[in-house]
Amino acid sequence: MKFTPINLLPKLIITIDGPAGAGKTTVSKKLAEVLDYQYIDTGALYRAVALAAQKKGSASLASLASNDDQALAKLCRNLQLEFKSSLKGLVLFCDGIDITDKIRTPEISMLASTISARPAVRKALFGLQRKMGKKKQAVFEGRDMGTVIFPDADLKFFLEASSGVRALRRFKELGDTCSQTLKEVEEDILQRDNQDSTRGAAPLKPAKDAIKIDSTDLSADQVVEKMLFFIKKAIINEN
Ligand code: DC
Repeated sequence: MKFTPINLLPKLIITIDGPAGAGKTTVSKKLAEVLDYQYIDTGALYRAVALAAQKKGSASLASLASNDDQALAKLCRNLQLEFKSSLKGLVLFCDGIDITDKIRTPEISMLASTISARPAVRKALFGLQRKMGKKKQAVFEGRDMGTVIFPDADLKFFLEASSGVRALRRFKELGDTCSQTLKEVEEDILQRDNQDSTRGAAPLKPAKDAIKIDSTDLSADQVVEKMLFFIKKAIINEN
């Protein structure tokens, strides 16, 4: 699909929040590509912490279970996380090792959701995310981008879709690598929705000034076109 170009695009921070499987990743990547902006997947950072906790084994997982925020803070402090762009897209390195594929398992999805409820983890990742936004010209995807990390973002979107559609999308996306049935994928999504939106620290919710888009019956291109409409409108209003 050919998108309508935007002339004289100012340096913006655009945030896209929403529940798992709402299409944030596909849409954020496309939007960043059209705008020639950087794409940042903040969920990958929480997944990286989850992978580190899993790798460290029982001690880290026990500190999670026992609310040991000091141990979690230490775990995060010792992680070197860095995104790099490559031919296969955005790649996440943890301590110099490419962990992009390792963080996409159902176990890591659930552990990332659990770990992300911990204030120590959110605090540790706050500065890193803010730093990544310094140069602007970026599309940030996550849960609290518009509410906590970039409350002054130029444009905030909140992407939603029915849980059935979200599960089906995730199921198709995982394809042959999916170790779960469609029903299990949907159950996991609902559990994560519940965990992510009821936690005390930076719960998943739309920012007051977020533009809500329901993608249940829309293709990714249609969602991007809608976002471009709002971006153009915001630029015109600014001038
Ligand atoms: O977007 P994702 O499915 O890769 O995110 C994995 C988990 O990380 C998600 O269940 C909640 C958490 N997360 C978060 O708390 N805040 C973010 N900005 C991004 C993700």
